[in-house]
Amino acid sequence: MTLERLLYISESRLGEAEVNSSVAQIVADAQIRNAALELTGALLFTGTYFAQILEGPTESIEQLMSSIKDDPRHANIIIVDRSPIEMRRFPDWKMAYHGPSEFVSRHVVRLLHSPPRSEQRRATEWLTELAHEFSVGPLPIRNLNRS
Ligand SMILES: Cc1cc2nc3c(=O)[nH]c(=O)nc-3n(C[C@H](O)[C@H](O)[C@H](O)COP(=O)(O)O)c2cc1C
Repeated sequence: MTLERLLYISESRLGEAEVNSSVAQIVADAQIRNAALELTGALLFTGTYFAQILEGPTESIEQLMSSIKDDPRHANIIIVDRSPIEMRRFPDWKMAYHGPSEFVSRHVVRLLHSPPRSEQRRATEWLTELAHEFSVGPLPIRNLNRS
């Protein structure tokens, strides 16, 4: 079975009043369907943009992406990267989500302004790394104090 990882970014079309409940709904639905499709990954949301990493079997990614492309809750979807993988980066996450972040936003915006290829690859790696850090969770305070 071929495993792939896909990263896309998109623009939110969620109204301000509904944004929190809508994202919560997307994540809740994703947990169920992604489990059935054997997909894992992470969703980043900046308030303006989504960035999502999906990993799993090619057919599952195709199937979910055709739903995601038709979803009116976002628009202007750009597939930034799609590559075969040996191992999952988010094996335990049906869909990790950690709230809006301005920090993430900077990296998404960098990707959007069609940078040269090398810059794009760096931004992709950055976002994947960032999502992974979020999914692992905060470090205990004592580790931060140790020098
Ligand atoms: C930014 C964004 C991310 C989404 N991520 C997922 C996901 O990981 N898994 C999922 O099942 N649905 C996800 N959805 C919802 C799908 O677009 C779609 O509504 C859902 O899978 C039901 O598909 P259907 O309408 O074709 O039945 C996401 C929607 C948005 C706007």
